[in-house]
Amino acid sequence: MRITIFGTGYVGLVTGACFAEVGNDVVCVDVDGGKIDRLNRGDIPIYEPGLEGVVVRNREAGRLRFTTDTAAGVHHGQLQFIAVGTPPDEDGSADLRHVLTVAGSIAEHMTDYKVIVDKSTVPVGTADRVREAVDRGLAARGVTVDYAVVSNPEFLKEGAAVDDFMKPERVIIGSDDARARDLLHSLYSPFNRNHDRLISMDVRSAELTKYAANAMLATKISFMNELANIADRVGADIERVRIGIGSDPRIGYHFIYPGAGYGGSCFPKDVQALARTAHDVDYVPQLLQAVEEVNDRQKHYVFNRIREHFAGHLSGRCFAVWGLSFKPNTDDMREAPARRLMESLWEAGASVRAFDPKAMAETRAIYGEREGLVLCDSPEAALEGADALVIMTEWNLFRSPDFEAMRERLAAPVIFDGRNLYDPDYLADLGYAYYAIGRPVQAPGNPGATE
Ligand SMILES: NC(=O)c1ccc[n+]([C@@H]2O[C@H](COP(=O)([O-])OP(=O)(O)OC[C@H]3O[C@@H](n4cnc5c(N)ncnc54)[C@H](O)[C@@H]3O)[C@@H](O)[C@H]2O)c1
Repeated sequence: MRITIFGTGYVGLVTGACFAEVGNDVVCVDVDGGKIDRLNRGDIPIYEPGLEGVVVRNREAGRLRFTTDTAAGVHHGQLQFIAVGTPPDEDGSADLRHVLTVAGSIAEHMTDYKVIVDKSTVPVGTADRVREAVDRGLAARGVTVDYAVVSNPEFLKEGAAVDDFMKPERVIIGSDDARARDLLHSLYSPFNRNHDRLISMDVRSAELTKYAANAMLATKISFMNELANIADRVGADIERVRIGIGSDPRIGYHFIYPGAGYGGSCFPKDVQALARTAHDVDYVPQLLQAVEEVNDRQKHYVFNRIREHFAGHLSGRCFAVWGLSFKPNTDDMREAPARRLMESLWEAGASVRAFDPKAMAETRAIYGEREGLVLCDSPEAALEGADALVIMTEWNLFRSPDFEAMRERLAAPVIFDGRNLYDPDYLADLGYAYYAIGRPVQAPGNPGATE
C-alpha cells in the first residue's frame, strides 16, 4: 500500500519504518529539514533499540523515503498518517496546531480519495476538527474530493517501540467509514497473523481509549508513590508491600514500581490534557488531578532526601547522577525526573557529574556547556570525588555495580536511589548510607554529612 507519514519523531519514524518492513511503499514527511537530511544519510536522529536496522534496510530497498516536500507526500499515499507532536498548551490542553496544519496541507494538495489517519494522541473531538480543516481547505480550492478521517492511536513504548509495533497487543481503529476501516484492516493484517488484534470502535471512543490507557498507567505509578510515602512514615518497606500486592492477579506485578516520579513525553501531558477535557465538559476529574499532584511532589522526593542528609548544606557539594533519560532504553529526556533533580541541585549551589548510556547528546542539547554540569563518559568517571551518587534511571548497567570500587571513587559512601535498585542491608554492610524510595534507611551513621 502507498502510505504517507507526517512527523518523523518517535512514533512517525517507527510507524513508517515498520510499515515499510512488511512491504509497503512509505514516504515520511517532516518540516524539520535537518532531521530529514540526517535520515536521508541513513543517520537515525533518535535512539530506539532495533530501529536503525529497519530504517536502513528499507531505505536501501527503496520502500522508505524521507522528504520535506508536503505536496509530494500528499500525492504519494492513499493513507495519510498524522504522527506529529501534540505538546501541552499553556492550560494543559493538547496543542493541536501541528495536527491541524497537516490536515490543512492534505486539503491543499489532495486530488483523490484519502484516508487521513490520526496517530498522534489527540483529545476527543479532534477528528471533527481535522474534518473541518480539510473541508475548509477543499472549499478554498473550490473542489470536492472524497476522504475519511480515522482515529488510530499509538500504544508503542519508547525503548521497545519496534517490537511493540511489530507485535502489538491491540490496534485500535476508530472509524464510521466502512471503506476506510477495510483499508486499515488490510494494512494491519501482517501484524495480526498470530491472532486478530484489531479492535474497531467509533472515533470518539478510540480517541478516549488512548488517554484512558496512559491515565491508568500514570495512576498506578502515583498510587505506588503515595504508598511509598506512607511506608516511609510508618516504617514499612514498600518493596515488600509491592510484592505482597502484586501476587494478587487482580492487581498484578506490572507497573507498580515506586520511584522518582513518571516523566516522558506522554504521561504528564496526557493526564493533563484528559483533565482539561473533563473540565471543558464541566466534570471535575479529582482522581486525575491527584495523580498529577502526587507525581509532581514525587519528583522532589530524591532532592528532599539529599537536602535532609546534608542538613540543608548543598552549596559547593558535587553529586554523581546516573541516568538522565526519563526511562531506560531511550534518549528521550522530556519531563525526565533527572532534569528536575539537577535543576534543584544547581539552584542549591551544588554541581553535577552526570552519566547516561544514551542521553548524553540530548543532555548537551538541553543544557549546553554550563557551570555545575560535567558530562562523564562512564559511570565510574561520574563518581570521581562526588559527595554522593544519585540514581535516576534504572538502566541495566546500573543494577549490579562494583560497590567496593565505587567507595574508593566517591568522597563519601552515600547513595540516593530513585529507582530502588539495590538491597539496603547489603549496602549497609558495605558501609554505605543508602536512601531508596519508601524503604527504611539502613544508615551506618551518616557518612559525609558533617564534613
Ligand atoms: N513518544 C511516544 O512514546 C508516543 C507513544 C504513543 C503516542 N505518542 C503520540 O504521538 C505523537 C507524536 O509523538 P512523538 O514522540 O513521535 O513526537 P516527536 O516530537 O518526537 O516528533 C514529532 C515530529 O513531527 C514533526 N512535525 C511537526 N509539524 C509537522 C508538520 N506540519 N508536518 C510534518 N512534520 C511535522 C516534528 O518536526 C517532529 O519531528 C504525539 O501526539 C504523542 O503524544 C507518542
